[in-house]
Amino acid sequence: MNPNEHGKGVARLFDGIAGWYDFLNHFLSLGLDVYWRKRLVATVRPGPAGRMLDLAAGTLDVSREILRHYPDQRVLALDFSRPMLLKGVGKIRPDTSIFPAQADGRALPLPAACVDTVTIAFGIRNILPRAQVYAEILRVLTPGGRLCILEFGTGQARIWGGLYNFYLTHVLPRIGRLFSRDPQAYRYLADTITAFPPARELARELRDAGFATVGYHALCSGIVYVHVAEKPALHISRKTP
Ligand SMILES: C[S@@+](CC[C@H](N)C(=O)[O-])C[C@H]1O[C@@H](n2cnc3c(N)ncnc32)[C@H](O)[C@@H]1O
Repeated sequence: MNPNEHGKGVARLFDGIAGWYDFLNHFLSLGLDVYWRKRLVATVRPGPAGRMLDLAAGTLDVSREILRHYPDQRVLALDFSRPMLLKGVGKIRPDTSIFPAQADGRALPLPAACVDTVTIAFGIRNILPRAQVYAEILRVLTPGGRLCILEFGTGQARIWGGLYNFYLTHVLPRIGRLFSRDPQAYRYLADTITAFPPARELARELRDAGFATVGYHALCSGIVYVHVAEKPALHISRKTP
């Protein structure tokens, strides 16, 4: 599919589920999503810019968790779904150091080398082409800065004797359909998880994109992974196709 059409479809989908997103997240993951985001934030690293970017920030749960750990940081929270961001704005204080703005991760409205860490939780799976967002992240990171990704593992590996896989493909889309305005939304979630590359392949993609010191670890038997990749201290930008 054409990446722009794909992007518009994804934005529409999240616009439609923004009202239910937090509730369904906690409910469908049995509250594990809170723990997963904490594990992501445990990998972020403050640096000289004093600024972090939470990309595909959604309803701002990762941004808030970053600030809880690092109250001196400023957190730019970018997402292309305005309803998702607005839902998040209702959860933050007016004097917070979280700065939400609507933007596409494939064309970040930021100068080069302006953030020390970029986080992206459950977002990278939705963005095509990934090479474009990697190039943008490398551009805006300070040298030696970190990209910290939280994402589902591929749903193709059997987990917990196949129980998780059954839940993912049969139970989750049905529950999602009950609540969400968009009957396709939670089918989309299951489909994109199943189609997502295994962690090893994602690590190779990150290295190919120009990141150094790439690593990952599994949480909950590989239901989700945290990936950490660093921008080399000396980075030469590559042209994306
Ligand atoms: C599953 S939600 C994750 C939200 C949040 N990070 C969390 O942990 O709950 C995925 C988010 O990615 C956003 N998104 C998808 N593609 C994007 C893109 N190209 N640029 C910016 N945001 C994007 C969607 O609007 C949505 O809010």
